[in-house]
Amino acid sequence: MSVVKINVLTVSAEMRDELEKRFANRAGMVETADGFEWFELLRPVEGTDRYMVYTRWRSEEDFQRWQESRAFQAGHAQAAAEAGHGHGHGQAPQQGHGHGQGPAASGAELWSFEVVQSATPKHSA
Ligand code: HEM
Repeated sequence: MSVVKINVLTVSAEMRDELEKRFANRAGMVETADGFEWFELLRPVEGTDRYMVYTRWRSEEDFQRWQESRAFQAGHAQAAAEAGHGHGHGQAPQQGHGHGQGPAASGAELWSFEVVQSATPKHSA
């Protein structure tokens, strides 16, 4: 059964462009991780002002392996630069303004789901 891991990022209005730019230049290493199935960066439009980093994995173990991998660390080099104490847990420090090297997100929260049902489009012949 696939699992969905959503990293929910708090991003100030002035850091949105910076965040999206960083994702546009992201390491691109998640694509080759074993058990990786899907990634989407979701920009908030209505109902929330938080970005969601949607990822789907074949299993919990595949996600855990990726999180402990060098690929994950490389993919979060900038985000971790001024967070100081690693990544993937806790809150990044408040950054204020500035588009420097610090994390573009001022907070991160990991949500976990199991995929219960899914569907893809069916095209009639
Ligand atoms: C403190 C926690 C985290 C923060 C602040 C954060 C933020 C970011 C940022 C800003 C980037 C763009 C690259 C960069 O700036 O270096 C990135 C990449 C990415 N993040 Fe996170 N992230 C965190 C943890 C996680 C977790 C737990 C997941 C799992 C769902 C995740 C999924 C991803 C993915 C898939 C990429 C693209 C990596 C690649 O291209 O290989 N992140 N993250």
